[in-house]
Amino acid sequence: MSAVPYNVRLSDGADSLIILDQRRLPLEEAYLELHTREELFDAIRSLAVRGAPAIGIAAGYGYYLCAREDADKPDFFSRMDDAERYLASARPTAVNLFRALARMRACLKRNALSERNELIAKLRLEAEAIQREDVGANVKISEAGLTLMQPGMGVLTHCNAGPLATSLYGTALGPILLAQERGYAPKVFADETRPLMQGARLTAYELNRAGVDVTLICDNMAGQVMREGRVQAVFIGCDRAAMNGDCANKIGSASLAVLAKHYSVPFYIFMPLTTADPDTPSGDGIRIEERASEEVTELFFRSRIAPDGIKVYNPAFDVVDHSLITAIVTEEGVLRPPFDVSLRDALERSRSGAGDRSRKE
Ligand code: MRU
Repeated sequence: MSAVPYNVRLSDGADSLIILDQRRLPLEEAYLELHTREELFDAIRSLAVRGAPAIGIAAGYGYYLCAREDADKPDFFSRMDDAERYLASARPTAVNLFRALARMRACLKRNALSERNELIAKLRLEAEAIQREDVGANVKISEAGLTLMQPGMGVLTHCNAGPLATSLYGTALGPILLAQERGYAPKVFADETRPLMQGARLTAYELNRAGVDVTLICDNMAGQVMREGRVQAVFIGCDRAAMNGDCANKIGSASLAVLAKHYSVPFYIFMPLTTADPDTPSGDGIRIEERASEEVTELFFRSRIAPDGIKVYNPAFDVVDHSLITAIVTEEGVLRPPFDVSLRDALERSRSGAGDRSRKE
């Protein structure tokens, strides 16, 4: 079901991280080998690796690589605190980054008294577990999402929530790829997703490779597509869900949700539960990343389209109000409103499931 070979993996010697450089897609499938924390930070910051789950996975491996590099230093533990703070400062919105790093820190603390090489091996296993669990969540999300689909259905998507943004199958694109495999022949409309064109560059690339019927539109065409009845649902990913069900996702998601409400098109969020933030009660508490003005004044850093010195505001995400969301699809199934109840219960179920699994190990 995956449309790309792989997007994040440790090198054979386990001393570097190899990522597919998403900035160069779809023109080139080029891999980057990252050795240092600075290289890792830059790869996350510049969107060479992007998408909430993929950022978390890269950060988990990044933490392990930092530990490996600093293993013999006398101030090892304080250096690891610095490494966590540094990697966490790469991007502020996707909670997977912070949750993955916190999980790695907990592993470090649990094994603090072990021999250093044993501790490093444990950190590697933890980073691999983060990635493996994301694959498992994607499979379940895809199956749950398929229950919302009918043969020949039209789906509108925004940004990229496919294999590139996760470990393997994707969240919002997972059910679409599965539907294609199972003969549903879905018809997808992909928003180009200004300013960084993740829809045009990545979603169109992934779905096209998988043989899905995909039509690219500019973001401002979504209302017309809905009005003409071409789509029966909107499927998007999420960077952080607050506990009341408000969901931060790529800029443009909130206006799409308002449009969908107007045209009575069901609006679905797809995410692993690692994207839910138990510490954020509502969307008001989600920090929205603001990015460089050149992303707006130039077309994907290639040609200038605006006057020199023009004022620019470039928020990279917005918050979809929970009242506009039909359901949130997770590895614990399709969650319906009220989300403050269904999301909390799903997190509870997934925590007790994780407890059962670790007791068996
Ligand atoms: O800035 P990006 O490209 O990292 O933004 C990504 C998104 O907004 C995705 O929709 C989100 O991370 C979900 S990915 C499964």
